[in-house]
Amino acid sequence: MSEDVTILAIESSCDETAAAVVRNGREVLSNVIFSQIDLHTLYGGVVPEIASRKHIEKINQVIEEALKKADRKLTDMDAIAVTYGPGLVGALLVGVSAAKAISFASGIPLIGVHHIEGHISANYIENKDLEPPFICLVISGGHTHLVVVKDYGQYEVLGRTRDDAAGEAFDKVARAIGLGYPGGPKIDKVSKEGNPEAIHFPRAKVAENEYDFSFSGLKSAVLNYLNAANMKGEEIVVPDVAASFQKSVVDVLVEHALDAVEKYGLKKFAIAGGVASNSTLRATFEKACRERDIAFYHPSPILCTDNAAMIGAAGYYEYITGARSGLDLNAVPNLKLGER
Ligand code: KG4
Ligand code: ZN
Repeated sequence: MSEDVTILAIESSCDETAAAVVRNGREVLSNVIFSQIDLHTLYGGVVPEIASRKHIEKINQVIEEALKKADRKLTDMDAIAVTYGPGLVGALLVGVSAAKAISFASGIPLIGVHHIEGHISANYIENKDLEPPFICLVISGGHTHLVVVKDYGQYEVLGRTRDDAAGEAFDKVARAIGLGYPGGPKIDKVSKEGNPEAIHFPRAKVAENEYDFSFSGLKSAVLNYLNAANMKGEEIVVPDVAASFQKSVVDVLVEHALDAVEKYGLKKFAIAGGVASNSTLRATFEKACRERDIAFYHPSPILCTDNAAMIGAAGYYEYITGARSGLDLNAVPNLKLGER
């Protein structure tokens, strides 16, 4: 019998229907992602009902494709890992129901995985040497968390956003300057032609917790800037607004995160989540970490945004501790990191 652990992983918490086959937590045999972005772009954001319906339509096909691309049969799987929260409840339920049905029919053990734990674990896939402890900044459309990864599956949340998530701020500002949805990649691209020093937007501090974030003030500052310019009949240079906004977000993230890394003396820092694919953010962290002699880890862009390979990586570290979920596993839309 092989000592390898091969996991079929399923992710459907938002607008990506995804399945992957992952060996020993770090080797991706297949990673299939059906993105619904084109569908939601029409409405300027994710429409939960449409997301659920599309997940139902696509889930079986995506799972079959993941097994086929990995050249594996279902019976080769040691476990089925599935995201059960946090996320949109109707979307999560599709993945959870599919995973439970497969587990029930095949007898293959089921493991419920936390979506943010998945994002953090994406770092293990391409950085074979990365082991806890380290600090991870999770920046996605729904979450902004600064986390100490104490060990596999053990997390201490140092700070989180008080209002908008980092990705949400990108999406809202992009809409305001007419770039459309999803805003992050569009602001990333258009900023390359802009001057990040053109407009000084605020860098918010949260008085009670030095590691918490707040992005709604920045978003309002951008909206006020746009309104004032419109009223005065001044030209709005979209690349300058985008680059200046992006710099403000990146400055705050870098300052908070690297302060924590130095304070905890860990010397290892990782980023995760959709916003972690931002090119300016990656370059700024790269340089700042080099200057401070901190090892910097980040997943490839395709493993930053939602995918199932990251769920397979997190699921593996749950699996080897003996963690298993029952067929009563349910979707938990507000699941907190560290809870089971
Ligand atoms: O992790 P993710 O795929 O989904 C959640 O779990 O939320 O993150 C999606 C978010 C969106 O807000 C999107 O605008 C943002 O990540 N994003 C980016 C970039 N690519 C995606 N933000 C900034 N720069 C990017 N290149
Ligand atoms: Zn995500």
